[in-house]
Amino acid sequence: MQLRDRHLVLGLTGGIACYKAAELCRALIKEGATVQVVMTQSAERFITAVTMQALSGRVVQTSQWDVREPNNMPHINLARAADAILVAPCSADFMAKLAHGAADELLSLMCLARPRPRVPLLLAPAMNREMWAHPATQRNMEQLRQDGTVLLGVGSGDQACGETGDGRMLEPAELVEDVIAFFQPKLLVGQQVLVTAGPTYEAIDPVRGITNLSSGKMGFAIARAAHEAGAVVTLVAGPVALATPRGVTRIDVRSAREMHAATLEQAHRASLMVAAAAVADWRVDNASDQKIKKDGSGGLPQLRFAENPDIVAEVARSERARSGALLCVGFAAESQDLLANAQAKRLRKGVPLLVGNIGPATFGMDDNALLLVTATAVLELPRAPKLELARQLVAHCAGMLAAAPADRATTT
Ligand code: CTP
Repeated sequence: MQLRDRHLVLGLTGGIACYKAAELCRALIKEGATVQVVMTQSAERFITAVTMQALSGRVVQTSQWDVREPNNMPHINLARAADAILVAPCSADFMAKLAHGAADELLSLMCLARPRPRVPLLLAPAMNREMWAHPATQRNMEQLRQDGTVLLGVGSGDQACGETGDGRMLEPAELVEDVIAFFQPKLLVGQQVLVTAGPTYEAIDPVRGITNLSSGKMGFAIARAAHEAGAVVTLVAGPVALATPRGVTRIDVRSAREMHAATLEQAHRASLMVAAAAVADWRVDNASDQKIKKDGSGGLPQLRFAENPDIVAEVARSERARSGALLCVGFAAESQDLLANAQAKRLRKGVPLLVGNIGPATFGMDDNALLLVTATAVLELPRAPKLELARQLVAHCAGMLAAAPADRATTT
C-alpha cells in the first residue's frame, strides 16, 4: 500500500494505450490510492467511461459542462482535491495543448487550472515512434519540462501500428513504480550511489558451485529507495532472479572476484556505497574446468579454498572513503549476538556505519529488522517490509552525507 491516502486524478487522452489505463487504474487503487478518472472525447473512443467507473468506483468526468457539479466548475474542484494529476496515456496532441496552455475541454482545462506546485502534473506519453521523434513533440516536451511537468518517459518495442521503436506507454506496473517514487522525499539528489546485492557463486566445476541463501531483496530495495530519493544508482548484483528497480543501472556478476572488480570500477565515482551483498568468504582455488566425475572408487574430490578479497573493507581503505568523499556502509549477516558482532565488524571493516541483521531470520523474506551501528550510536529499525527499511536507511545515510566530511570518513 505505497499510495495510501493519495488522491490521484487519472486523465485519459486518445490513444490505443487507453486499454492499459484500465489496469493502471486498478494497480493504483491496489496500492491504496483513490482515483478520479477524467477522460477526453478521444479517449472515450478507445475505452468506455463505464469500464473506468467500474474500476475506479467513481463517476468518470468527461465534460466541463457537467451540471451535476454544484458550482459547475469541475476543472477547479477536481484539481484542488488531487495530490497529483497523472495523464496516461498522454497523446502527442494533448502534449501540444498543454505546452501552449490550451484549455478547450475538461482535462486540459483542469491541468491549466491546477494550483502548481501543490498539484504536480505527471505525463505518460503514448504515440507512434515518428510522432514521438518529431521535433514538434520533442519541443513541446522540453517546454513542458521547463514548466515543471514531470515526463515519465516511454517504452520501446512493438507498436500497435506494426512499427517498432520508442513511444509506447510504459507498462502499468512501471508507471505505478514511478508514481510511488515521485512521492518519496528527494534526499539524495546529486548523489551517486553504489549498491552490492545478492549472494555470490563460487564454481567447483562447470556444473556445481558454492553459494548462500541471500535473496538479494534487501540490496535491491536499497537501490530502489536510493533511486526514489533522487540518486543516480548502480547496482552490482550477484546471481538472483529479481527485477531491476526502475531507473537503476544493474551490473550482473557471479563470483566474489567479479563483484570485487565491478565494484572497484564503480566506487571511484560514488558518493555512497552500501555493501548489502552476502559475498562468499572463500572460493575454490582448484576449481575444475570439466565436470568432476565419480570414479566408483569412493574417493572424494579434494577441494582447496582461497580467501576472497574483502570488497567493502578495501573500498573503505581507499583515499576517497578516508577523506569522506565516499560514505561506506557495510552490512553484517549474523546468526546471533547481533550488537556485539556488528560493532566488532564495523571496526574490522573500517566503515562509519554498519547495518546488522540476523541472516536466517531474513534470507528470502520480504521483511527484516535492522540494527544501525555507528561509532557513537546504535539505532534499531524494527521489523518491517524491506523497502520500508531501505527508505529509512537511505534517510539515515542522507543525514550522514549532510554532515561534515570528517564525520563520514572511514576509520582505518
Ligand atoms: N563483504 C565484502 N567482501 C567480502 C565479504 C564481505 O564486501 N569478501 C561485505 C558484505 O557485503 C557486508 C560485510 O562485508 O557488507 C559483512 O559481510 P559478512 O558476510 O557479514 O561478514 P564477513 O566479513 O564475511 O565476516 P564473517 O563471515 O566472519 O561474519
